[in-house]
Amino acid sequence: MKKLLPYMKKYIFFAIASPILMILEVIADIVIPYLMSRIVDVGIANRDIDYIVKVGLIMAGSALLGMLFGILSSHCGAKAGYGFAAEIRLATYQKVQKFSFANLDNFSVSSLITRLTNDCNTIGQVTMMSLRMAVRAPFLMLFAVYMAFTINASLARIFAVAIPITAIAIFIILSKARPLFKKLQTRVDRVNAIIQENLVGIRVVKSFNRQEHEEVRFEERNKDLKDTALSAVSKIILLMPIANLIIYSVTISVLWFGGRQVVVGTMGGGELISFITYNIQILMSLMMISFFFMQLLRGSASVGRVLEVMRTKSEIHEEKNPINEVRDGSVRFDNVYFRYPGSPEYALKNINFEIKPGETLGIIGSTGSSKSTLVQLLPRLYDVTEGAVLVGGEDVRNYNLEVLRDQVAFVLQKNILFSGTLRENMQWGNENATDEQIIDALKQAQAWEFVSKLEDGLEHRVEQGGNNFSGGQKQRLSIARSLLKSPKIIILDDSTSAVDMTTDAKIQQVFKEELKEITTIIIAQRISSIQKADRIIVMNEGKIESLGDHETLMENSPIYREIYVSQQKGVVGE
Ligand SMILES: Nc1ncnc2c1ncn2[C@@H]1O[C@H](COP(=O)(O)OP(=O)(O)OP(=O)(O)O)[C@@H](O)[C@H]1O
Ligand SMILES: [Mg+2]
Repeated sequence: MKKLLPYMKKYIFFAIASPILMILEVIADIVIPYLMSRIVDVGIANRDIDYIVKVGLIMAGSALLGMLFGILSSHCGAKAGYGFAAEIRLATYQKVQKFSFANLDNFSVSSLITRLTNDCNTIGQVTMMSLRMAVRAPFLMLFAVYMAFTINASLARIFAVAIPITAIAIFIILSKARPLFKKLQTRVDRVNAIIQENLVGIRVVKSFNRQEHEEVRFEERNKDLKDTALSAVSKIILLMPIANLIIYSVTISVLWFGGRQVVVGTMGGGELISFITYNIQILMSLMMISFFFMQLLRGSASVGRVLEVMRTKSEIHEEKNPINEVRDGSVRFDNVYFRYPGSPEYALKNINFEIKPGETLGIIGSTGSSKSTLVQLLPRLYDVTEGAVLVGGEDVRNYNLEVLRDQVAFVLQKNILFSGTLRENMQWGNENATDEQIIDALKQAQAWEFVSKLEDGLEHRVEQGGNNFSGGQKQRLSIARSLLKSPKIIILDDSTSAVDMTTDAKIQQVFKEELKEITTIIIAQRISSIQKADRIIVMNEGKIESLGDHETLMENSPIYREIYVSQQKGVVGE
C-alpha cells in the first residue's frame, strides 16, 4: 500500500478534507441526542416552551450542518478515491506499455485487463470508504461511549459486555469470509480470460462451429464465479441479523435497568432516550468497523494484484547514456544464442552473419525454425541470451530504445491495424506524415491500387483489428505504415504471404530500385520472394544451415534445393 501512496499526491487535499469533515459530521451526530435529552428533561419537565423552541432550533441547525458536512465529506472522499484509482490505472497502463515481449508472455492479456479495470476500481472504492469510515466509526464510538458514561456510568457498564460479544461475532464471520474474497478475484480473472479469448477469436469460434462448446466452458466458469461470490456473501450477510439481535438485546437491557432508575428518579426520561440513541450509535460503529475491515480485505487483494504488475521489471534495460543516432543500416550477429524466458532449449544457436547497409537479406526455412525469433532481436523485442546483435556498428543494447525502434521498422508476421481512419493508421509510422507522403508509401507498398478505389480514400474507416480489409490488403497497409517511419532497416516477417505473386514481385522491385538505401530483411515461405536478395540465410532448427546467394545455395544447400524443387513442381503442375 505504501508503494501506491505517491499516486494520492494530486488528491491529497481531498484525502485530508474528507476525514476532517467527517469528524464534524460525527460531532453533530453526537450533539443531537444530548439536545434531545435536554428538551425532554428540562423543557418538557418544566413546561418551558421557549426553551423547547430554542433547543429545538439548535438541534435542527446541528442536523443541517451535520448533513452538509456529511455531503462534503462524501464528495471529497469520492474525489480522492476515484482520482487515486485513476492515477494508479494510468501508471499501471504506462508500465504495461513498457513491458518487453518477455514480460507480456508472463501475464495473460485478460488478467492485465482485470487488473486495470476491476482491481483499480476496487482500490478507488475502498479508498473512498476507508477515508470516511475509518474515521467515522472510531470517533463516533469514542464520543458515544463518553456521552453514555457521562449520562449514567452504572448503566454504561452494559457496554463492557455488549462490545466484546459484538467484536467476537464480527471477527469469526470475517475470518471465514476472508479466503473467499481472495478466491473471488481469481474467479473473475478466469471469466475474463475466457471472454477475452473468445471475443478476439470470435470469427474462428464461429467458423469452427464451436459456440456451443465455448458456451459450456463459459457456463462452468461463470457458475464457479457465482458460487464463490454467493458463499462469500452468505457469510457476510449473517452480520446484519446478528447485529440487529445484539442491538435489540442491549436496548432491552438498557430499558430494563434504565427504566427502573427513571421510576426511582435517579435518571431522567430524556436521558434514557438519548442513552438508547448512543447505544445504537456505538453498536453501529462497531458494525462499520467490521465492514471497513472487510473492504480492506477486498482492497488488499486488489492492491497486491496491481503491485505485481508495477513491480515487474522490464526485461529490456536502457543504457544510462544511450546513443541517439543509428549511423547506418548495417547488421551483424556475433555468436548469438537465444532462449525464450522459461524455455529450457535455445531457440537460436551460434548465429553469425553480417549485412551491409542497403543490402537485401532473405531468410527462409521450415516453420518453427526460429526465423521470427532471429529478427525480433534487432529492434530488441527480446534481448540475446549470449553474444551480441549490432546495428550500425553498435550493440543494439547501447541505443535509445525509441531511436532504435524508429530506425528498425518491423512488419510483424501478425499485423494489426487499429480502429480509426486509414490516415490515422498510417500516421502510426510518422505522426506528421502528409497525405502526399502517405500516398507515396501506399504506392510503394502496392496498396494504393485498392486504397485509391475507396470512395473516402484516406478517410476510410478501419475496423478494430483491420477486419474490413483482406489479409493481403492488411499486409500491404502494414508495409506502408512501416515505410512512413523512413527507417534505415526494414524487416518484413512473412509480410507478403497473402499477396499474389505479381504484386509481391512489384513490391520486391520497389525495394530493389526505389528504396535501395534501406537495408531489407525479408522472411518468406516462397523462394520467389527472396530469390533476388543479395544474401539468403537458410534456417534449420535454430541454426543457420547455409548462407549465400540463390546460385550458391542451389549448389550447397540441400534444404534450399528441396524447397526450390517442391515450389517449382507447384508452378509446373499448374
Ligand atoms: N514467446 C515465445 N515463448 C516461448 N517460445 C516461443 C515463443 N515464440 C516462439 N517460440 C518458439 O520458438 C521456436 C521458433 O519460433 P519462430 O516463431 O521463430 O519460428 P518461425 O521460423 O518464425 O516459424 P514460422 O515460419 O511458422 O513463422 C518455436 O519452437 C516456438 O515454439
Ligand atoms: Mg515466424
